[in-house]
Amino acid sequence: MNRTATSESATPKRAEPKALPDHVAIIMDGNGRWATQRGLPRIAGHKRGINSVRKITRHAKASGVKYLTLFAFSTENWLRPKEEVHGLFDLFRYYMRRECRTLAREGVRIKFIGDPSEMPEDIQSMMTEAEAMTASGEAMTLIVALNYGSRAEIVAATQRLATRVAAGEMAAGEITDTAISAELNTSGFPDPDLIIRTSGEQRLSNFLLWQAAYSEFLFVDCHWPEFDELAFDDAITLYRDRDRRFGGLRKSG
Ligand code: FPP
Repeated sequence: MNRTATSESATPKRAEPKALPDHVAIIMDGNGRWATQRGLPRIAGHKRGINSVRKITRHAKASGVKYLTLFAFSTENWLRPKEEVHGLFDLFRYYMRRECRTLAREGVRIKFIGDPSEMPEDIQSMMTEAEAMTASGEAMTLIVALNYGSRAEIVAATQRLATRVAAGEMAAGEITDTAISAELNTSGFPDPDLIIRTSGEQRLSNFLLWQAAYSEFLFVDCHWPEFDELAFDDAITLYRDRDRRFGGLRKSG
């Protein structure tokens, strides 16, 4: 008797658990509201937001997520009062000084997307150093979107491709989906499987517009400083329940 075959056929079939997202991207919203609701200055909310960044980065890695993108500062955030912008930059400096070595030790590779040229010079140096210091990290890639705007990214990519066409280096017909993706700041990273926005707002705010073509979206009510490991796990559970068809038909008929 073939024991293996018998025992296999006697085992009730269990549904395959749906895959974990490889890439989770987060719009960390609601720091200001969290602080205001407590009678605190807005910057206190950003400070608490840093705690969530640290917790969620560690937890995402432990959960097996391979890429975590965090929207830290948008090209539109320059419109905020100067003190808030400077406060955010100071927090960013604090975070980089405190975390870089630890992230390197934990195998987290840091990458930045966005236009660094408008950032203060010391921050530009910190960004370069952080990328170099963590370059060999293989456990997870933490992508920090800093002075990032998706339309600006697409415009710059289009201009580079148009310049090549005009110079006769490529044909217009070679401007494909893949060619455009390769020109974006996110070149080499997979598109996000799941985009989470905290604080109840339901919009993308110029974040990863091209890359989000087939992402699942999750809008959660809590403010970013309250977004913890449990909230992250809930988001992953909801994601795993979604039926991703990428324009095709439902797998289960
Ligand atoms: C949105 O809250 C949050 C931001 C514009 C900044 C997020 C930045 C951090 C958490 C700190 C820096 C990040 C890293 C990766 C070190 P909001 O101020 O728009 O909230 P509101 O809508 O309630 O006003």
